[in-house]
Amino acid sequence: MKWVYVEDVAGHAGEEVEVRGWLYHKSSKGKLHFLQVRDGTGTIQAVVFKGDVSDELFALADRLPQESSMIVRGTVREDKRSPLGFELGVTDLVVAQEAAEYPITPKEHGTAFLMENRHLWLRSRRQHAILRVRHEIIRQCRGYFDANGFTLIDSPILTPAACEGTTTLFQTDYFGESAFLTQSGQLYQEAAAFAFGKVYCLGPTFRAEKSKTRRHLMEFWMLEPEVAWLDLDGDMDLAEDMLENVAQKTLEKRRDELKFLERDLAALERVKKPFPRITYDEAIALLNKQGHQKPWGDDFGGDEETWIAQSFDRPVMVHRYPSAVKAFYMKQDPERPEVALCVDVLAPEGYGEIIGGGQREDDLATLEQKIIAHNLPREAFTWYLDLRRFGSVPHAGFGLGIERTVSWLCGLPHVRETIPFPRMLGKIWP
Ligand code: 4AD
Ligand code: MG
Repeated sequence: MKWVYVEDVAGHAGEEVEVRGWLYHKSSKGKLHFLQVRDGTGTIQAVVFKGDVSDELFALADRLPQESSMIVRGTVREDKRSPLGFELGVTDLVVAQEAAEYPITPKEHGTAFLMENRHLWLRSRRQHAILRVRHEIIRQCRGYFDANGFTLIDSPILTPAACEGTTTLFQTDYFGESAFLTQSGQLYQEAAAFAFGKVYCLGPTFRAEKSKTRRHLMEFWMLEPEVAWLDLDGDMDLAEDMLENVAQKTLEKRRDELKFLERDLAALERVKKPFPRITYDEAIALLNKQGHQKPWGDDFGGDEETWIAQSFDRPVMVHRYPSAVKAFYMKQDPERPEVALCVDVLAPEGYGEIIGGGQREDDLATLEQKIIAHNLPREAFTWYLDLRRFGSVPHAGFGLGIERTVSWLCGLPHVRETIPFPRMLGKIWP
């Protein structure tokens, strides 16, 4: 008998097939047991009718515990009421393993409990939908750069130096020397951009963030393009074009999942170019007008980002933050050295910063001074300084946080459900 995946049953109407999966849910009515069987590609209702099967099989279907694994054989029948459009008229059922009492029942559970059972929680429809959207977002991110002449250059995970400040480093031993888990692949992308022109990486990055917020993870995935001969304006154009593309294509490909998550799709349809661009100064003025007093020079936290973004119906790009609150590698605006040629993209609906980036300092002497001013060990950056010694050019790039993007596009209040196994403050289980 042919083994088919649930998502493919439509092509087998009237045929007898085999579905391999797990028992998601079960209900009974008189001489009928309705088994909801999921196989990862979808869920199908397998109908066990007393008149069609042996007494043993009918009794087995009745007592089978949730999440038991099994092979169900039966005839694919059209069923207009089911979301799938088809059901299975069961002729045979072979149990692979009868599950122990499953801790996650259809009743409501608290998040702490579900987090402890993340390895099982992944099987629920909601988590399934979220992670399918995540996959689509990553596919579209890669697809965008692959289609636009970028070369994928993987940055290393173990690194000798800090990229995003020394306060959030995860340190480890590297044969007697200290090494750090990477905070960003950027510095290596800069080297790669001078070799390949347009490059990107997508990989895990690590920050020992001491804060417990709905936007922070210790381990998150970042997409980082870097382009030689690009300035801040070009960088903003790239971020805007990529984001529109990723949002619209994800909406197109994963509409069913987003609907299931009850996402406001109209809000996503508005994610179209051009995105508003405002300076940090204008953002400060906006905050003050709203009654949120904020002195010039302060960085923005989650609250400020939410308030600023609330004034717009699509992502807003805030550029030229004070240099003092930004990383050592950012280029100062030659017309106003107190601000950096940088940009943060803030997502609407309270999601805050999803992209951080900008133009890089390309002058050797200035960069050397910055490294000293930021108290960074010069030796660790000699290779990076070489890039300013051998054919330095203006260049720019950015980092998109995958989990924050998933959170925003799915409309989730917290990033913890956007990654299969989240690493959070004081939590590394499971
Ligand atoms: O703004 P960040 O720190 O920028 C960089 O790391 C640059 N080196 C990127 C570059 O220019 N190549 O981080 C970029 C993005 C943020 O906008 C946010 O979306 C995400 O990474 N991010 C986090 N996501 C989840 N948890 C955290 N702790 C995050 N920290 C940053
Ligand atoms: Mg940032």
